Amino acid sequence: MTRLGRSSPLRCRPVLVAALVGALSCGAPALCFGADGVDAHNDGHGQANAPSSVELAAIGRKMFFDASLSASGRLACAGCHDPKYAYGPAPGHSIPNGGPKMDLPGTRAVPSLRYLQSIPPFAEQYHFIDGDVGPGGGLTWDGRAPTLHEQASLPLLAANEMANGSPDAVVKRLALTGYAREFRAAFGADVFEHPGTAFTDAMQALEAFQHQPAEFFPYSSKYDAFLRGTADLTEQEERGVALFKDPKKGNCSSCHLSTTRNGVPPTFTDYDYMNAGIPRNPRIAANADSRYYDAGLIGPSRTDLAARKEYCGFFRAPTLRNVALRDAFFHNGALHSLREVVQFYVDRDLHPEKWYPRDADGKVRQFDDLPPDCPRNIDKDPPLDRNPGDRPALSDDEIDDLVAFLRTLTDGYSTEEASAAR
Ligand code: HEC
Ligand code: HEC
Repeated sequence: MTRLGRSSPLRCRPVLVAALVGALSCGAPALCFGADGVDAHNDGHGQANAPSSVELAAIGRKMFFDASLSASGRLACAGCHDPKYAYGPAPGHSIPNGGPKMDLPGTRAVPSLRYLQSIPPFAEQYHFIDGDVGPGGGLTWDGRAPTLHEQASLPLLAANEMANGSPDAVVKRLALTGYAREFRAAFGADVFEHPGTAFTDAMQALEAFQHQPAEFFPYSSKYDAFLRGTADLTEQEERGVALFKDPKKGNCSSCHLSTTRNGVPPTFTDYDYMNAGIPRNPRIAANADSRYYDAGLIGPSRTDLAARKEYCGFFRAPTLRNVALRDAFFHNGALHSLREVVQFYVDRDLHPEKWYPRDADGKVRQFDDLPPDCPRNIDKDPPLDRNPGDRPALSDDEIDDLVAFLRTLTDGYSTEEASAAR
């Protein structure tokens, strides 16, 4: 794979906490929790027991669905991450507005929040399963949030999302909610008098909610049932999975990992970064300014790697689980059907005129969403390795087969299966 990070000098993990907008750091021991969000809670203010992860998750769930935590009073986490769509966007809402008056547009597609439970923090020298080393891991499309609790502060404070001016503002709103009493019972009677700690406690609760298996990693798709031996794939789906894995055809599984490892079903991502050269999306309001570019790892959302031009346009590979529930694909939501996505992988360089606009002189402006000073770092991994005149990696029928397989990755099949058997 083309991983430019391979040649960069060995470093430790970048200072990610500093890259978080308005982030909290896990500096004080009272702010640091074990992986399950329970172990290291030090109440420090007259509370007998640390809350259990079940209590934390129950509070986190209420927060997640609570629009009163936003400056507009109208936007909850769930307003963008809809549980009916695997905690991704509802149709037509892939790049929603937010802000105090709900009129400030977003700049990226809303991802699904499923299957994020084991994403490691971002590292420039991430060791991939295939032996390569390069940028990998981290939450958000540019990996700038190392953990779910650090991520949770981003939308709460972002001016165009939930738009709280500060962590203290979030805590003030929390203290007015119907579940403030549960919050006090969990974290101490005087918790709201210590807004710094209360904010961190709140972020831990949101994280604990997102660690609930039934909601966030149910492994209940048809493909999971197939892996467990309780469902058969159709012939078309079987052809699709073979194409997905075949290095000479789809080659998809080289990045969207598809095998069970150590008993854990596949996540369909290796958390790798690449510049896929996705076309510019004119529906993103910021793109009306021709000088504006979202260049992923090098900014503007992320700031610590701004000088590393070799990472221009690098975005993290998302999971493909539940991808059939989406109506906008890639970091900027520029493509609108799964068939279109697979077609793009097949003929981005064979028929660029299908994907990119033309200049005034009629010349196709390929890779129109990359800043002019971006180095030539476009990913050329198969099937993106073709040149004009080459044979496409997949025929039209094979594209259909691949899409049929991707549709088997939608959760909820085994529940249907179980109720049908009843
Ligand atoms: C206005 C819509 C909006 C709201 C409200 C919102 N999010 Fe998001 N969320 C997004 C977008 C867009 C991204 C991608 C951000 C990026 O790449 O910079 C995202 C990314 C994430 C991610 C990272 C997913 C990944 O694949 O790495 C998590 C986790 C998350 N949000 C959780 C939350 C939580 C918890 C809340 C409430 C506190 C919330 N979001 C509120 C739009 C929203
Ligand atoms: C070299 C690694 C690599 C290969 C090979 C690859 N992908 Fe991806 N995939 C990515 C990355 C990285 C992204 C995100 C790119 C972006 O948004 O800029 C992505 C995004 C996607 C998305 C969009 C998902 C979403 O939530 O928006 C789909 C669907 C997808 N890939 C399917 C496939 C299929 C099908 C194949 C095989 C034909 C494939 N990919 C091959 C790395 C890869």
